[in-house]
Amino acid sequence: MNFTILRFDSLDSTNTEALKQAKLGADEGLCVVARQQTAGRGRHGRTWVSPKDAGLYFSIVLRPQLEAKYLTLITLMAGVAVHDTLSEIGLEPDIKWVNDILVNDKKICGILAETSETPKGLAVIVGIGINLTSANFPDELAETATSIEAETDHSIGPSGTLEEPLVRFLGSFYTILTSEQGPATILKEWQRRSTYFSGKNVQVRLADDTITGVTDGLEPNGALRIRMPDGGVTIVQGGDVERLRTAK
Ligand code: BTN
Repeated sequence: MNFTILRFDSLDSTNTEALKQAKLGADEGLCVVARQQTAGRGRHGRTWVSPKDAGLYFSIVLRPQLEAKYLTLITLMAGVAVHDTLSEIGLEPDIKWVNDILVNDKKICGILAETSETPKGLAVIVGIGINLTSANFPDELAETATSIEAETDHSIGPSGTLEEPLVRFLGSFYTILTSEQGPATILKEWQRRSTYFSGKNVQVRLADDTITGVTDGLEPNGALRIRMPDGGVTIVQGGDVERLRTAK
């Protein structure tokens, strides 16, 4: 895959711009980066707070040749790529299903994959937000989020430094995902990097229910298996997973 990076000072959302480019016929590998977003978005319609130079706000256009049932693995593939990007700069990240990258149990990165039909076929836009500094975190994020600056003894400055490894790892894990045996390989790579894969006590907030249980691996499409207190398994396709800390 060839990468081209379009840079903007300010956008509403890099995902929106990447989607626009995909509809105009952009090839896969087109990346959009902005110094700030005025309407950055996260999963479940949430806002992704995106002040100027406080994060890497990045989106990439993909046109995957992948069976439809495996499209959900694109988010996991991106999580593996971000994990290795952050490891390369000395952090010890964890991946919380499905798309949160944590450092010391706090969220440092979120990933939002959006799918759309375009004149050149199906496009998947993978949006990645990595916190560079915590300086401007709103109060409600201070407890649960972290940044590269907070986790290292140096700040890495606006986005440039992270883009090269991020694009490199995205390229190599995307090539794996779209190859023969790719889906199974990505699941294994995800498992190696996530303490949430199995044996973690969690609460999962679903659209109309909340369940509690123990993680028990992933399904072939990346859905999370939860072992319930009655011994049965619930398969979670979407929802927010929170670790449950046992009372001391
Ligand atoms: C989440 O954890 O809820 C996903 C957050 C994804 C944020 C990124 S920032 C770059 C891209 N543009 C957006 O509007 N969202 C994604």
